Amino acid sequence: MIIKPVIKGVVSKSAHPEGCRHAIMEQIKYCQSHLQQINNGPKRVLILGASSGFGLAARISLTFGGAKCDSIGVSFEKGPSEKSIGTAGWYNNIFFKEFAEAEGRIAYNVIGDAFSDDVKNKVLNLINKDFDGEVDLIIYSLATGQRSDPATGNIWRSCLKTTGSAFTGKTVNIEDNKLESTIIDVASEAEIADTIKVMGGDDWESWILWLKENNVLTKKTKTIAFSYIGPEMTYPIYHTGTLGKAKQHLHETSDRLNKLISTDKHSGAYVVVCKALVTKASVYIPCFSPYILCLYKVMKSMGLHETCIGQMHRLFTEYLYNVDNVVVDSSRLIRIDDLELREDVQQKVIDLMSKMNDENFTSVGDYIGYKKEFLQLNGFGFESVDYNHQVDIDYLMKLKP
Ligand code: NAI
Repeated sequence: MIIKPVIKGVVSKSAHPEGCRHAIMEQIKYCQSHLQQINNGPKRVLILGASSGFGLAARISLTFGGAKCDSIGVSFEKGPSEKSIGTAGWYNNIFFKEFAEAEGRIAYNVIGDAFSDDVKNKVLNLINKDFDGEVDLIIYSLATGQRSDPATGNIWRSCLKTTGSAFTGKTVNIEDNKLESTIIDVASEAEIADTIKVMGGDDWESWILWLKENNVLTKKTKTIAFSYIGPEMTYPIYHTGTLGKAKQHLHETSDRLNKLISTDKHSGAYVVVCKALVTKASVYIPCFSPYILCLYKVMKSMGLHETCIGQMHRLFTEYLYNVDNVVVDSSRLIRIDDLELREDVQQKVIDLMSKMNDENFTSVGDYIGYKKEFLQLNGFGFESVDYNHQVDIDYLMKLKP
């Protein structure tokens, strides 16, 4: 069969396996050819949310960028069926594992709900079986709209709303290549609390406490989770909105976890504040896309643009490893959003945003780059992949993550 992109709004309903393989390969090449390699990096790594975005990039950087780590990756992805080809993350898991094993690395993929006891037990068994009962780094990179409580079966749902007053702006519709007017409503107290439950630090904490109780943390174990702050103009959409409240909770959690697991400068819990990037999760954030379009345009023109792999490799080689002490700001946050927030970058972004309208957004902003990255997340848009080649669905059905 021939697989074509099928986009609904900002969601890709199809994925191209060969393109996903290619995307993994490109990220591996980036790390292998990078001048700076990770020294004294972690050898046994657990990644929660390993199949796409920052989690996948972190896994690739730590495996192929000098540290040569073995890894367990947890993700929630679907394989091929009668109805669909499966998700990009499914194929990312398969091809990452294939490449890692070819280099002699252990790479397990645990597919399931990271909030469940079942997945926790599977991970613990693997750590005990193949990691000598120890883990050096735990990366928390889940992005999801809901979380189930294994004790009660209750489901919390997050929402992307403001707090304070409603916000009116524009959002890109990738399916129709249009900017659409959007009103972001004000969240209720219950909605804020639920979003914190889903995207705050609660689940990260429960994983770390549970791993500690099961004695798999060492004196040198580190754990990281990802956050976003952004410039003031995006505060109503993000930083002071429901997601920002959840991230605030994540930041507070990192301080609590740090007290619990840090024995010296080689261990501890940290929040990494990343740059705004196109990922499966971020395209959902209402009214955020015009800012990203302008940011991409400016950062590319200044030679400062990074994708997930660039961000993660810089994190490990300049902030977390290869350094005497973890590099943090005065709030103990690791700031790899430094280039995005540079004053000269932000001034240019403000200028561009003031010129952008419904007619010119594809040229004023980097819409071509934005859409290309979106398509590539799903295995489409690579020049060297032959999209007219017949994909063998029976073969794909046999591939296991
Ligand atoms: P993504 O959508 O690319 O990846 C999310 C991962 O979580 C996938 O591997 C998915 O399978 C997994 N996942 C979701 N629900 C799950 C569940 N119930 N059980 C197991 N796995 C599950 O997202 P992205 O953008 O890489 O986000 C990762 C983190 O980075 C999030 O905390 C996000 O807020 C943060 N971040 C993202 C930025 C961006 O611009 N994309 C900027 C700064 C921070």
